Amino acid sequence: MTISVGDCIPNCTLAVMGGEGPAPVTTAELFNGKKALLFAVPGAFTPGCSMTHLPGYVANADTIKSHGVDSIICMSVNDAFVMGAWGRDNNATGSVRMMADGSAEFTKAVGMDLDLTERGLGVRSRRYSMLLDDGIIKTINLEDAPGGMEVSDADTMLDQV
Ligand code: BEZ
Repeated sequence: MTISVGDCIPNCTLAVMGGEGPAPVTTAELFNGKKALLFAVPGAFTPGCSMTHLPGYVANADTIKSHGVDSIICMSVNDAFVMGAWGRDNNATGSVRMMADGSAEFTKAVGMDLDLTERGLGVRSRRYSMLLDDGIIKTINLEDAPGGMEVSDADTMLDQV
């Protein structure tokens, strides 16, 4: 079942690329006691994600944070090595935290998994954005198609923070 506004984010462990390799990060560390913006993409380095979605959040990160958002988190069903490289490639360091949900544990727990096997991508995440306050979902913007960018983009989120 897909998670809804008012629900609490599940307890899962994600991974981030650190100086000494991938490091675990729990959703409690990411979301508890914080106002956080999460956006999820179907794949690092894929066209819409790389040309529009991630760059939009990097460009607007300071403005979004000036509205009281403590952290902006980008998540994908990719490994931490790929997410680290994708973040570096997009100058995301210091503005957007690049989280790997390598085995789709979080993505399945929130009901956002999408089977893109026929396109050679395996199980990935649907494209969405969420605003969370202390781990509680305040808004969800879910795209119909993996390449869609109608509601989950940074400009839309700017009206919600
Ligand atoms: C895209 O980023 O445009 C995309 C990613 C995965 C599947 C389809 C499109």
